[in-house]
Amino acid sequence: MQIDGKDYRSIWFETQTSCVRIIDQRWLPHEFRIVELRDPDDFAAAIADMQVRGAPLIGATAAWGVAMQMVPDPSDSSLQQTIALLLSTRPTAVNLQWALDDMRELLEPVSERERARIAFERAKQICDEDVECNRRIGVHGVEIIRELAAEKPAGQPVNILTHCNAGWLATVDRGTATSPIYQAHEENIPVRVYIDETRPRNQGAHITAFEMKQQGIAHRLIVDNAGGHLMQRGEVDMVITGTDRTAANGDVCNKIGTYLKALAARDNGIPFYVALPSGTIDWTIDNGISDIPIEHRDGEEVTKVQGRLDDGTVARVQICPDETPAVNPAFDVTPAHLVTGLITERGICEASKEGLAGLFPEHIG
Ligand code: MRU
Repeated sequence: MQIDGKDYRSIWFETQTSCVRIIDQRWLPHEFRIVELRDPDDFAAAIADMQVRGAPLIGATAAWGVAMQMVPDPSDSSLQQTIALLLSTRPTAVNLQWALDDMRELLEPVSERERARIAFERAKQICDEDVECNRRIGVHGVEIIRELAAEKPAGQPVNILTHCNAGWLATVDRGTATSPIYQAHEENIPVRVYIDETRPRNQGAHITAFEMKQQGIAHRLIVDNAGGHLMQRGEVDMVITGTDRTAANGDVCNKIGTYLKALAARDNGIPFYVALPSGTIDWTIDNGISDIPIEHRDGEEVTKVQGRLDDGTVARVQICPDETPAVNPAFDVTPAHLVTGLITERGICEASKEGLAGLFPEHIG
């Protein structure tokens, strides 16, 4: 997608400097910083410190981390250590495990001489596949928006609420939850996006609002607590979120607060959709509520907020008394029965074992 009219992906290999480049998302929207990653520690820190974030982008970054390390040291021990290091960075997004398993299965059987070349090809391919999956999610998801638009007076926007950032910066490009929105915008279907700020790290305020502004899509930032009220007033037509891990039974793990939005949507008869590439499905888990590991992050993310001061500097300020203890679960699980449908690269299905099996029969058995 574009930033100030220039096309970007969220991660790319820079041939001139032989390194991987990312957009450091910790400073958006106030500062646009590009960072270079070279060795496994750079990649691990980028994921753990959330310079990159969002399930698909975490997976792509890990794949590049393995590929880059195969240049100076393609040995078995280097491969295993790099994978173990990257896997330890964040526990919830299953795309990380998926990408690292994929790299391991591909590289283990090949000779050390071949590993760097093959790893580079696969890392590039993982990125391209993510973009294509997201494009298809948009093509399927826009059908729901088109139907909602047809029920409205001509020219009235379809109001879509989203939580956290499942936009192009959470993926390699295009995004998951945002892909149907971009598709609708490109097809001149009027849309307006209600963006939850998404405390504690405010990915909605910092990143989704930035993305929507850059693409010229109508949007309104709301505090996390406003969604239920807007739904009661008929100001939300649908909810679309992303997911960090979806269990084989259709339970959806996503950024903390997603569950509350699903409850409010159900109470108000508003469709609640989740957009995901199949790499986000954990086929080994049948109960998302009990079995998906939930990341707990530093309490400082709760006690402090980051923003831009009037003098232009980006700063963090404390919002509670000194030494207030905080609890910071980063994700929650929305049970499948609250999810209207899953929008995948193969189409839209019910959030259930049967629904997923219909689209992905090769994983059942
Ligand atoms: O902690 P984050 O910012 O990595 O959490 C990201 C989310 O929860 C996204 O909504 C999710 O990964 C879907 S990304 C397409």
